[in-house]
Amino acid sequence: MKEQLKSIVDDALSQIEQSDKLDKLNEIRVSFLGKKGQLTQVLKSMKDVAPQDRPKVGQLVNEARATLEEKLEEKKKAFEVLAMKAQIEAETIDVTLPSKKPAMGHRHPNTIALEEVERIFVGLGYEVVEGPEVEYDYYNFEALNIPDNHPAKDEQDTFYVVSPNKILLRSQTSSVQVHEMEKGKLPIRMIAPGRVFRADEVDATHSPSFHQIEGLVIDKNITFADLKGTLAEFAKELFGEDTKVKFRPHHFPFTEPSAEVDVSCFKCGGKGCRMCKGSGWIEILGCGMVHPHVLEMSGIDPNEYTGFAFGVGLERIALLKYEIDDMRLLYENDTRFLEQF
Ligand code: DAH
Repeated sequence: MKEQLKSIVDDALSQIEQSDKLDKLNEIRVSFLGKKGQLTQVLKSMKDVAPQDRPKVGQLVNEARATLEEKLEEKKKAFEVLAMKAQIEAETIDVTLPSKKPAMGHRHPNTIALEEVERIFVGLGYEVVEGPEVEYDYYNFEALNIPDNHPAKDEQDTFYVVSPNKILLRSQTSSVQVHEMEKGKLPIRMIAPGRVFRADEVDATHSPSFHQIEGLVIDKNITFADLKGTLAEFAKELFGEDTKVKFRPHHFPFTEPSAEVDVSCFKCGGKGCRMCKGSGWIEILGCGMVHPHVLEMSGIDPNEYTGFAFGVGLERIALLKYEIDDMRLLYENDTRFLEQF
């Protein structure tokens, strides 16, 4: 019996010694100490042992069991240490490696230009307001004195949302002038930046959706001199102290008189260069004195109040200021382009 036990224990110990993974260790445990395990079988055969020898044999079996359990536990611990070492090795982080450069966001040239324009007019005491992009014909055209047969109302120029042609995507921020005048709070000193829509094909200077900044001032005794002074100041702040302005007569249905404004070329100072196409001047906006009929339609007495208005293309300002020669670059969101600003 003793011999048998010893050979079982030796066999088990050598198997434990040679085992190379945790699963194997469990198999060994079962095959020796499990219900049908070899050592358990020995215990079961105790009934064949002479009663006086039973305590002795029982003790031997228990010792054998204890030895095996101890060795199994030892080996298990060794496996755990190895596994931990492997894991630590696998998870090693080299903190000296250079990290990935995080992509930094940049303000869009339109945003930079808009913030600049807003800064200038807020400095002059203007309020920044907004109006809806989906508009009634009334606000976009009718209340601005634009007759029904005006070419701008053609479906080839304006996007209509609801026909027969009463709701549309605004084609100009001038619509916001009407909303502000209707509020009936005077005087008015506002700029209204926003998106406008026109059925234009995309090219270097056109897009079906772009941005304008509308300006409107209404008070008692406002004259063309106020308009000139304001826009001259605006041009100087935006393009530099030496910038001159030139007012060319023009026509807009909602202003009378109307003008287009050129600034002296900030690139060549007026001598003529590629930027100003050799003329020394660059067109930047449309403006004029608010038409008395427009004031009247929005409930303002033209005998008591006068005003001026202007409209600037935001993209045009951004393209000029940052010397970008293709408007499409502003809409493509190519980060290689945008991160230059
Ligand atoms: N709304 C005009 C346009 O889209 C621009 C404009 C011209 C606005 C003269 C004005 C203005 O307020 O007085 O072309």
